[in-house]
Amino acid sequence: MFASTIYQQRRRTLASRLGSGIVLFPGNEDSPMNYPDNCYHFRQDSSFLYYFGIDFPGITALIDIDENREILFGDNYTIDDIVWMGPQPTMEERAARVGVEDVRPAGRIASYLAQALQHHRQIHFVLPYQASVRLKLAGWLDCHPSDLENRVSMPLTMAIIAQREIKSAEEIAEIEKGVDISVDMHIAAMQTARPGICEAEVAASVYQIALAAGGDISFPIIATKNGQTLHNHYHGHLLKDGDLFLLDAGAETPTHYCGDLSSTFPVGPRFSDRQKMMYEISLQSHYTAIEHLAEGVTYRDVHFAVCRKIADNMKALGLLKGNTDDIVAAGAHALFLPHGLGHQMGLDVHDMENLGEVYVGYEQGENKSTQFGLKSLRFAKKLRQGHVFTVEPGLYFIPELMDLWKQRHINDDFINWKEVEKWRDFGGIRNEENYTISSEGPRRLGHKIKPKTVEEVEAVTAQCRG
Ligand code: GLY
Ligand code: MN
Repeated sequence: MFASTIYQQRRRTLASRLGSGIVLFPGNEDSPMNYPDNCYHFRQDSSFLYYFGIDFPGITALIDIDENREILFGDNYTIDDIVWMGPQPTMEERAARVGVEDVRPAGRIASYLAQALQHHRQIHFVLPYQASVRLKLAGWLDCHPSDLENRVSMPLTMAIIAQREIKSAEEIAEIEKGVDISVDMHIAAMQTARPGICEAEVAASVYQIALAAGGDISFPIIATKNGQTLHNHYHGHLLKDGDLFLLDAGAETPTHYCGDLSSTFPVGPRFSDRQKMMYEISLQSHYTAIEHLAEGVTYRDVHFAVCRKIADNMKALGLLKGNTDDIVAAGAHALFLPHGLGHQMGLDVHDMENLGEVYVGYEQGENKSTQFGLKSLRFAKKLRQGHVFTVEPGLYFIPELMDLWKQRHINDDFINWKEVEKWRDFGGIRNEENYTISSEGPRRLGHKIKPKTVEEVEAVTAQCRG
């Protein structure tokens, strides 16, 4: 948690950007998994954390801009709650830590909002993604839950994005802690993977580091020998010599700032010659991305530089043919890179995606492409100081995609199918790091260094496979 003045300043900035009305932040609630007392791990909403910092379920925050009032609605624990869950700070104590003086019982918010509605006052909110919160909000606003979407405040959406996407020094320091824990998670996986063990054992070694650091994982762990499936959450395969392992995993700090890294490494002690060749090509895409990072450059252009690099390398290998710019314009390179170069990162691993991917990732008025591959580019904005984002090019051989394109003659002019087929069972590679644009230029986040070159990776894998 930061000093109370930081939260106060953030709320003042938000209020002055909006000018008038009531701003409502319904915090997240506990969500039952199979019976009411057995809940999923609680995660507070990130905008609630950003403006009000309180990491506890069932609290609603309200800023009444016109009345110059900030209120937290929530109830203190009863003795029954305390017996089962232990003593907790009171609502007043929690509020004081974030600079709020006005605390009211949870049940009072309905009448506050009913009165506001009677006076036709503007109530700003963003669409809750938790169903229980949506139902609660619809009740307060006396509308059908399906109608909430039409009443979302675009001024609030855009004001939150403008504020949260530029990270302050203290936020960057927290993110770097998340990245450092993430580096430890990746080194643990490189050390743990070996022939004869199960993917789940590698995932467990990764999870252990995140929990032991006092936080959690920032998204479900991707730990797989089938890296060609982009978000592969199946951990049931037995590993064998010759497999290539893809880990995409990140830590969330106790303050809920995230890291998000990907590594690809051999299950046996070393990469095969074929794996090494493709791995080096994927690293070249990674270096190309980093070379292009600069304030004022659009991330879309960095993405395209990577696409051209992949097209050139695939041409050199005989898998693609034709003019590089034509290949990229047609989207033929997306056979090997069907996703975007990265996304913003902060309190959410895909920062603020609940507010709308296009508002977070694209300049106002810009649309997202519908072309396969490019439609998955989550971040295309002009890079600005304080942006924090991932750089995560990959190279994949997805048999089902290959079969579909071949059957439908998609991009046939650019693809040498006979050569592509030779890589059918290769799998996938992804390397991911986290960057910011600082006043001195682009900077890789984290103090620890994740092994990345063939030599660095093999220095870990070869040493641990004894
Ligand atoms: N790390 C998973 C993703 O960025 O989608
Ligand atoms: Mn990522």
